[in-house]
Amino acid sequence: MVQHLITLADWNTQQVLNVIAKAQDVKANPQKYSSSLQGKSLIMLFEKPSLRTHLSFDIGMYQLGGHSIYYNASNSPLGKGKESLSDTIRVMGRYADILMARMFSHQHLCEMAKHSTIPIINGLTNFSHPCQILGDLLTIKEKKGKLEGLKLAYFGDSNNNVTHSLLYGCAHAGMHIAVGCPRDENFCPNVGVFNHAVSIANGKGTKVTLHHNAQEAVKDADVVYTDSWMSYHVPPEEEKKRIDTLKPFQVNSQLMKHAKPDAIFMNCLPAMREYEQTAEVLDGPQSVVFDEAENRLHIQKAIMLTLLGK
Ligand code: NVA
Repeated sequence: MVQHLITLADWNTQQVLNVIAKAQDVKANPQKYSSSLQGKSLIMLFEKPSLRTHLSFDIGMYQLGGHSIYYNASNSPLGKGKESLSDTIRVMGRYADILMARMFSHQHLCEMAKHSTIPIINGLTNFSHPCQILGDLLTIKEKKGKLEGLKLAYFGDSNNNVTHSLLYGCAHAGMHIAVGCPRDENFCPNVGVFNHAVSIANGKGTKVTLHHNAQEAVKDADVVYTDSWMSYHVPPEEEKKRIDTLKPFQVNSQLMKHAKPDAIFMNCLPAMREYEQTAEVLDGPQSVVFDEAENRLHIQKAIMLTLLGK
């Protein structure tokens, strides 16, 4: 049975903790893994722009001794509507050993996984972003020395990929998670994901909570996290309305004062200064965003090694 990484809901807690531990080892001992994927090929299929995911998978595969191919979906028979998802993945499986795909539709990615003979990694869909959150858990573990019992507070657009994967990731890791967002359901997490995360957290004695008041959500947080108000799939004409609605959930130094004094600030990037956070916070002493970005490399290597049974 081929193992994929489509959402963190499909992985159990032990798998999540194991891949983080592997990433720590890969980061500490890169030489040990320098030919682990020799002779293996990764296809990187992109429907959307990417900086971190593209480069960290490409360089990560090179550092593991393998080969990667960038494939732009818009120039493909798939993107031109000339070939089906299932035919595309069946063909890819005849050439490559593993596929990472960044797609608009989560359903399309699931459809590909259904027909795939090779492992598929979700490099971001509108619904989830599991690689990002595995890398974030690695960063939190490095900075805080543990995951269990910590509290993460997330602010802003919460009906998005990063929030959904954070809900699952924190629940698996035994962390409390508080989501602070407008009451409007367009900005609240998917109800099914939220309830599922609550049920995982219940088994571990941790809390998953939703707040429409930022100061209430941030109280005692060890980690303060935000994401773009203008995700890749959001039409530009929505920008003005989004700024007005999301402004009360901006991470600024006033809000940071209500978290724990040693709280760290995270953003998966790309970040817009003075939008989802102020420049003072993003460039300030509590920000770990560039360590967070670096850890994408180490976690991608651990994910590929895991899915290829190494
Ligand atoms: N929510 C953001 C994440 C970017 C890494 C987006 O989908 O654009």
